[in-house]
Amino acid sequence: MKLFLDTASVQEIRDAAAMGLVDGVTTNPSLVAKEQKPFNEILKEICSIIKGDVSAEVTAIDVDGMLKQGRELAKVADNVIVKVPLIKEGLVAVQKFKSEGIRCNVTLCFSPSQALLAAKAGAYIISPFVGRLDDISEDGMNLIQQILQIYNNYGFETQVLVASCRHPLHIVDSAMMGAHIATMPFKVYDQLIKHPLTDIGLQKFLEDWKKAK
Ligand code: E4P
Repeated sequence: MKLFLDTASVQEIRDAAAMGLVDGVTTNPSLVAKEQKPFNEILKEICSIIKGDVSAEVTAIDVDGMLKQGRELAKVADNVIVKVPLIKEGLVAVQKFKSEGIRCNVTLCFSPSQALLAAKAGAYIISPFVGRLDDISEDGMNLIQQILQIYNNYGFETQVLVASCRHPLHIVDSAMMGAHIATMPFKVYDQLIKHPLTDIGLQKFLEDWKKAK
C-alpha cells in the first residue's frame, strides 16, 4: 500500500521523506491556505522532493474553470495529479482531462454511488474521506470496503485513496482491506512507527550490552 502525506508544508514533507517511505502527497485548499505562500511555488517545491503522485486541487466549480486551472497545475510537473471535487461539473471535467492525458484525483467522496460514478468517468484516484464520516457517527472504513468491492466486481482501475485519516488504525484497516493508498497528516505518519515496547526493549538491550564481556 502506498503511504501519502496529507499536507502542503514543505518542512513536514522533507522531515517525513527523510525515512524514505513517503510515496506521494495530497494537498487541498485548506492545507495550502495555512502555508501563506503562492500555491505554484509550494507545488513546485513539493514535486522536487517527492517523485510520486502529488495531488493539487482546483478551486473552480464550473467545468471550464476546472479545465483551465487543472491544465495549469498539470504543467507544473509530470507527477501532478489534478484534484477535482465530486460534483457533476467535476465528473465532466475528469472525462475531458482523461482524454488529454491528465490524471485526476476525485475528492470529497462520501458514498459508494459517488465512487462508482468517479470510476466510470475515468478517475485515476478516488478519495473517500473516512475521518469526516466517523465525525458524524458513520463508519468511514465501511465505505472503503464497499468501494473496493464495487471496483473489484467490475475491474475498475481507479485507485482507492483513503483520505481524512485521523489515527494509525485507519491506516492499518486500509491495508487489511487492500486499499491502494492512504493519505495522512504528518502526526499520524509519525505515529505509525511508534510502540512503547520497542523503546523499552531497545533501551534494555543497550543497557545489557554495556554489561556484556
Ligand atoms: C485528502 O486528500 C484530503 O486533503 C484530506 O485527507 C482531508 O482530511 P481532513 O478531513 O482531516 O481535513
